[in-house]
Amino acid sequence: MDLILMGLPGAGKGTQAERIANAYGIPHISTGDMFRAAIKEKTGLGRKAKLYMDAGDLVPDEVTIGIVRERLHQDDCQKGFLLDGFPRTVDQAKALEAILTTANRKLDCVLYIDVDQAQLLKRLSGRRICSGCGATYHVLFNPPKTEDICDQCGAKLYQREDDRQETVKNRLEVNQKQLQPLLDFYRTRGSLYTVDGNRSIEAVFADIDNRLSVTPSTSINSSQLT
Ligand code: AP5
Ligand code: MG
Ligand code: ZN
Repeated sequence: MDLILMGLPGAGKGTQAERIANAYGIPHISTGDMFRAAIKEKTGLGRKAKLYMDAGDLVPDEVTIGIVRERLHQDDCQKGFLLDGFPRTVDQAKALEAILTTANRKLDCVLYIDVDQAQLLKRLSGRRICSGCGATYHVLFNPPKTEDICDQCGAKLYQREDDRQETVKNRLEVNQKQLQPLLDFYRTRGSLYTVDGNRSIEAVFADIDNRLSVTPSTSINSSQLT
């Protein structure tokens, strides 16, 4: 299945993507995670992305489209993929459409997780990430068994730099500005499914799973992404 997961910062894209990727056996591709990995490795891409991410701005389209194109060409994407946080602009959406069209493929579903602004702020301020395995927690909504320690690998939890209050405000504004045109783009193509993301993690996943279980997959037997 070729899938996109959209939603404003804190909507639960990463949380749901992990579950969808496991359930449907497709790779979870998060542009945010790819940039954070590049920052950690101190690559040229990382240095460039950091300037934008620390301010809560979008990384320029040409950079972002380039890394996604490269990632989609890897073998594990040939039977499908789940993009988390890409596309975020109409130009990115058009570039993705061109990549898929060349391979005679099309998106099976664009999932949009819709969450109220007040709830987004609560989710971002309480989020904690594992420094070992990258698992996501929330101090109130999804706490680890032992405070600040990952249930899965025992490493320490930390707060993402862009979850600081000063950055969150700009991040939400920047993403909100791009959201409506992007939703319109996919609505006109008939592939958009809006999920009420204000519910529990389990309820949101059940909704997505119900929808995907009746979505016919077009990527099986389709050609390679080139
Ligand atoms: P990215 O890493 O994608 O960040 P984001 O879009 O701001 O989204 P988040 O990862 O913050 O939130 P999420 O929706 O994944 O929520 P999560 O599941 O963690 O991008 C970071 C930056 O990289 C961007 O700002 C930009 O600079 C750059 N970038 C990335 N992609 C780009 C692109 N395409 N173009 C240009 N630049 C790009 O959940 C949040 C919290 O809520 C967690 O604590 C979780 O436990 C909790 N939670 C989740 N679901 C629920 C629920 N249902 N109920 C209660 N709590 C919940
Ligand atoms: Mg995320
Ligand atoms: Zn861990």
